[in-house]
Order: sequence, then C-alpha cells, then structure tokens
Amino acid sequence: MVLPPAKIVQAHKGELSLPNNQMRLDIEEGIPGFIKHRLKSELGFLGLDMLHPEVTSQSIPALRGWLDPDCLPEHPEGYRIEISPGGITFSSSTVLGLGHACTTLRYLVAKVDLSGKKASIQPMILEDWPSYAWRGMHLDVARHFFPVETIKRYLDILALHKINRFHWHLTDDQGWRLEIPILPRLTEIGGWRTGADGKKYGGFYTAQDVKEVLIYAQYLGIVVVPEIEMPGHVRALLAAYPDLCCTEEAQSVPSTWGVFDDVLCVGREETFRVVRTILDYVCELFPGKYVHFGGDEVPLKRWNACPHCQRTVMEEYLLGTASLQGWFTTRIAAYLAEKGKIAIGWDEILEGEPPEGTAIMAWRSEEHGANAAKAGYPVIMSPGRYCYFDHSQGGDGEPEAFPAVLPLERVLQFNPMPPKLDKAHHSNILGGQANLWTERIATPEHLEYMLLPRLTALASNLWHGKPDEGTVRAELPRHLELLSRLGYNYRALEHDR
Ligand code: ACM
Ligand code: ZN
Repeated sequence: MVLPPAKIVQAHKGELSLPNNQMRLDIEEGIPGFIKHRLKSELGFLGLDMLHPEVTSQSIPALRGWLDPDCLPEHPEGYRIEISPGGITFSSSTVLGLGHACTTLRYLVAKVDLSGKKASIQPMILEDWPSYAWRGMHLDVARHFFPVETIKRYLDILALHKINRFHWHLTDDQGWRLEIPILPRLTEIGGWRTGADGKKYGGFYTAQDVKEVLIYAQYLGIVVVPEIEMPGHVRALLAAYPDLCCTEEAQSVPSTWGVFDDVLCVGREETFRVVRTILDYVCELFPGKYVHFGGDEVPLKRWNACPHCQRTVMEEYLLGTASLQGWFTTRIAAYLAEKGKIAIGWDEILEGEPPEGTAIMAWRSEEHGANAAKAGYPVIMSPGRYCYFDHSQGGDGEPEAFPAVLPLERVLQFNPMPPKLDKAHHSNILGGQANLWTERIATPEHLEYMLLPRLTALASNLWHGKPDEGTVRAELPRHLELLSRLGYNYRALEHDR
C-alpha cells in the first residue's frame, strides 16, 4: 500500500527481479522531460539506478511510461501501473496522471530492500484516481517570510502527498510579500516590520522568484493559487499607502497578531483603482485560473465613522455599514471574473452576492461550506476544526504551542463532504485543504513539523474521498520512515514519543 491509498486491482504471481538495482528507463517521446527527470532523481535517491534504454542490456527490466488516451479517460488525474515479472509500465491519459504514477512508484520502490544486489518487487496492477479535484495546502508567508528554497521544499512535500493546489497567502497585516513594480512602496515599506526585539524583519518575492516557484510547481503537477487579502488584513498595504485607510493616518506594519480595525476605505474610488492595479499585475504574473482575494474578518469601526464609506452605504442603497464588506467583495469577484479568472474568497464573501462561479473557501465551519454549496457555489472545505494546522498537535513538547489543539486523530476523521449536505449539491464540493498560518512558526523545520504527518491524513482523505483511518494508520509508520529518509521534520506518532 501507499499513501494516499491506491486501489490494487490485481495481484500477480511471481516476482520482478531487479539485478544490481537497475532498470532501463524507457519513456515515450513527447512526454515532458521532467517526468523522466523526476524518476531518475527520486528513484535514484532511493538506490534504484535508471539506465538509458538503448545502451544497456535487454536483460535489465524496463520501466516504461506512456501517455494513453484510453487509460481511465473519465479520471483526468488517474493512472495505471502494471508490475509484471518482465518490468513495470505506467500510463495515464494526462501528464498530471503520469506525475502521480511517479509518486506512487516512489513509495513502491521505497519499500524494496535495495541493500543487496538481488532486490525484487511483487507484481500487481494498480489503477488509481482521486475523489476530489481540489486537494490543497495553504501557506501564510506574511506573518513569517519563507524564501523560495523553502517554498520549493514545501511543494516537494505536497507532491509527495498528491496535493495539487498550493494556496500562497502573500499579503496580510504583518507583511506584503509580492513586489509590484508600479506600486513599489508595497514591498519597500509593507515588506518590513520592526519586531519586539527591535530588529527589522521581512522580505518579499520578485517576479523572478514567483516564476521560479511556478515552474517548479508545474513540474510537480501543482497549481499555485495566489492570495491578496482585502479589504481587511491590509495593515502592511496601509503602511505603504495610508491614504487608502478611512483615517488617512500614517501607520506602521504591526508585529503583533490579531484582527485590526484599520482596513481599506471602500468609499473611495482611489481604493478600487489601486486594488485593480494590484489584481491586474497578479492575474498576469500567475497564469492559473484561480485568484484568491481574501474577504475575511473585517471590523466595522472605521467604516462606521468614515463619511466616504457612509456615503457609499446611502448611494448604493445598502442596508447598513455591515453590508459594505459583501458589496466590496462582490465588486472584486466580478472584476476577477471579467478578467477570466475564478475568484476565490473566504466564506464571509457570501454576505454579498458574488457572481456565479465564485469559489467559496469554508473556514468557519462545515455548515458554512454546506450553505455555500446549497446556494450553488463551488466550495473548498477548510473548516478550522479539522484543517487549521497552525493549531497545536497536542501533548508535550510543542514548540510555542497554539492554544487550540488539532490532533492527528481528528484530521484522520475529516470528511471533506459536509455531513448535512444533501446529495443533489455534492458536486459543488470541489474538495478541501488545510491552512498553515505562521504567527507562531518562524523556521522551515517548525513548518514541516506542523505539516507532518497531519498532511498525510488530510491528503489521504481527499484522495480516497472519505476517512480511511484503518489504512492510513496501518501505513503511517512506513510513510514516516520515508519522510525521515527524505530528511523531513515530522511529529512522531504518540507511541514513539
Ligand atoms: C481565516 O482564518 N481568517 C481565514
Ligand atoms: Zn472609509
């Protein structure tokens, strides 16, 4: 077995011998070179030598990969692996599926004892595909900044779990992390803060950095979803452009956590002009179809006292100040939709009337997700109770424990389908994801510790379609061994601590 669990459709008799731990790597022409590269480096790391198909002896078994339009055509990410005494073939109708096959081969080879020269693998046929199209993992790089190298390592871990969406939370109160050349103050000012220790802290990504991440993610079959928060969680933006706040007062980039009163003034056209400039740039830089624009946690204090915002309430016939948030986010979602993007917002955006097709990320509860699905919106389930990986894993020895606890056991029970949602609306649930907020996470090692192995449980449920505690628990020790071989930092299972 492998994690996420794959479906073995047939076990073969006999065995596939791997003399001298070698195979001939025979990849059909036309398949992107990174598939071959992945196999060479990933299986090579485990000790299996990948030789050129022509220059080597025919007695060495072949590892063959090919694109087959007839391979599980109803499952675009599906793939098939056949291990027979003569060799291994893997196929898919898509490059994405071939990538998943590479990951599964990595697990299968990791289980083979390659310490001698007489290794063998048990033959089988395996057909596999995911239950949910959206299998996501988020990372907050605003509270703490992580360089491109860390992001790539993070993506490696996601791919190892067949996660296919990386939600990159690029802006928040404590830092603006995306350089936007025509608004340079966003990163010159908003990219930096003064910590409690008096030291300057921060950083940001250039367009070149982003492109490097995008290419790397594409090789791994991962779509990068940028998030630009608005109209709340914008203190870093307001530090750079204070005129966009209702008070117009100069302010600093905060180094404390929480929800702040200062938000974008939504009663001025200038705010929309700047926001559109930012989104135009983001839409061009990120070629994927999704753009997340935040939309959560907006206090009304500033809007209540602002003549511009109050005039907007009157002119737009809104019911009151509380309606401004939905009115604003609806306008932004519509702008992104006009640009051909699928806009995504946290579930508060349903307080407005976002255009059809806007995706809702349900974080407050499963019920918020169910309600969004009933209203006809595509939904990504990320309820805090199961999916907030900034929460402590429980027990002793947590570095800087978060007051709330999310043990592995609960993630194992996470069903992406909200329990009270009737079948007619099930197809609106795109999938789910976990979020990793970094107020209390400052180092790559700690990041991995908070991610693993909870991500393993989440990814398994998203792939399998529902909790599969028995399989995952049975496989976890071996999976952790692989994580350890690959050098990742994870939290040991309770009985090993
Ligand atoms: C959120 O955790 N405020 C989306
Ligand atoms: Zn205002």
